[in-house]
Amino acid sequence: MSSDGGSNNINTLHKTQSSPAIENAIDRSAPNFTAALEKDETSYFDTNPPPPELEEFSQAAEAFVKLHCEHQRRVVLVTSGGTTVPLENQTVRFIDNFSAGTRGATSAEYFLEAGYAVIFLHRQFSLLPYSRHYSHSTNCFLDFLSEAAPTDAGSRKNSIVAREEYTAKMLSVLRKYKHAKRENLLLLLPFTTITSYLFLLKELAMKMRPLGGKALFYLAAAVSDFFVPRERMAEHKIQSGDFAEKDGEMELINPTAPGAGKKLIIDLDPVPKFLKRLVESWAPAAMIVSFKLETDSKLLLTKCRLALKRYSHHLVIGNLLQTRKYEVVFVDPESNYWLRLPQSTEEENGGKFASKQDSEIEALIVPEVVRRHGALIWDVVAATRSS
Ligand code: PMT
Repeated sequence: MSSDGGSNNINTLHKTQSSPAIENAIDRSAPNFTAALEKDETSYFDTNPPPPELEEFSQAAEAFVKLHCEHQRRVVLVTSGGTTVPLENQTVRFIDNFSAGTRGATSAEYFLEAGYAVIFLHRQFSLLPYSRHYSHSTNCFLDFLSEAAPTDAGSRKNSIVAREEYTAKMLSVLRKYKHAKRENLLLLLPFTTITSYLFLLKELAMKMRPLGGKALFYLAAAVSDFFVPRERMAEHKIQSGDFAEKDGEMELINPTAPGAGKKLIIDLDPVPKFLKRLVESWAPAAMIVSFKLETDSKLLLTKCRLALKRYSHHLVIGNLLQTRKYEVVFVDPESNYWLRLPQSTEEENGGKFASKQDSEIEALIVPEVVRRHGALIWDVVAATRSS
C-alpha cells in the first residue's frame, strides 16, 4: 500500500492494475505489527489531536467513579461499535466497519442487571442500552404507538399509548432504563474516530484507577487496525482531478489529458496495539477482557491464544462474524470454553439461522464474565490477607 517507500512489486502493481491481489495490498516491509511500547504511546498521543470533548468526558468519568467507589460498586467500561478512519482532516470520506454495537449495548444491560455501574464508550449513533430494543428496529418507532381511544378509562383526549402487543416488554425496558438513570448507573460517552477512541480509552482507564480490582474492561468495540496519521492526512476533500490557481480562481488542469482520471491509493499505517499498555500501565489492577473477531473458523482459536500471549490480559472472547450472535469461545491461559445458544433448525425458522426463543448470547456471556471477575477480586483479597 505504500506509495513512496513500498516494495518494487507493489509500486509496479499500482501502475498496472486497479484491483491488486489481496496479498500485495499489505506492505510487508513495514515494521512488525506487535504490542505498543511506551515510546509508541508517546509518539501516537503527541502527534494525533485529542478529541475536543476529552476534558468534559474525563470530568464526567471522574465524578462517576467517585460516586461508585463510595458505594463500593464494581464498574465496567464497555466499549462498543466501530471506530472510523477519516481520510481527510475536514472529513467527507472515512473508512468504517460493520459493527452496529449490538454486543456492547446488550452486554451493558446485563452488567447493570448484575449490579455493575457501566461506562458505555460507544460509537456515536450506534445501539444504546435499552433504546436498542426500539431505535434500530425494522419497525419505525411510531409503529409501537397508537392514539389512545377517547373511551379508554383514564385516557385523555389526544394522547398516545404503546400498542397493546408491545406494552409488557416496553414497560419492563422502561423501568430498567429509568432505574439506571435515577441511580446514575450508566454513563454514555460517544466517539467516532479511532483516534478519539484511543484518547478516551486511555483517559478513562486513568480515571478508573481508584476502583482497583473492582474495575472491569470489556472491549467489544470493533477497533480499526489501520489509519492515516495526522501528518499525511489531506486537509480538504480529496479531489478526483488536479486544480491550480489562475487569475485568482481555481481551475481544472488538463481535464482531457491521458491519465487525468485518477485512482485513489490509500496508504494506511498500523494502529499501535495499545492493549498491552492498558494491561501493564493504564489499568494494571483491573480485569481486562478483549474480544477477537475472525471470519475464518480455522484461525479463531489460534488468534485468541496469540492475543492472550501477546497482551497478557485475563480473557479473550472469540467470535466469528457469521455466528457471533449464537456462539462465542472464552479463551484464558488454562482453557477454551464454548458458550452456545440452542439453535432452531432452519426448517423451524423459515430457512433462517437463529437462536431459539429470541434469547441473547450476552445473557450467557455476562454472568460468566461477572463470575470470573468476582473470583479474581477474591484471589487478590486472599493474597493480600496471607502476605
Ligand atoms: O457490534 P456487533 O455487531 O454486535 O459485533 C460485535 C463484535 C463482533 C464487533 C465484537 O463481538 C468483537 O469481536 N469486537 C472486537 C473486534 C476487534 O476489534 O477485534 P480485533 O481483533 O481487531 O481486536 C482485538 C482487541 O485488540 C480488541 O479488544 C481491541 O481493543 C484491541 N486492539 C485492536 C486494534 C488495535 N489497533 N489496538 C488494540 O488494542
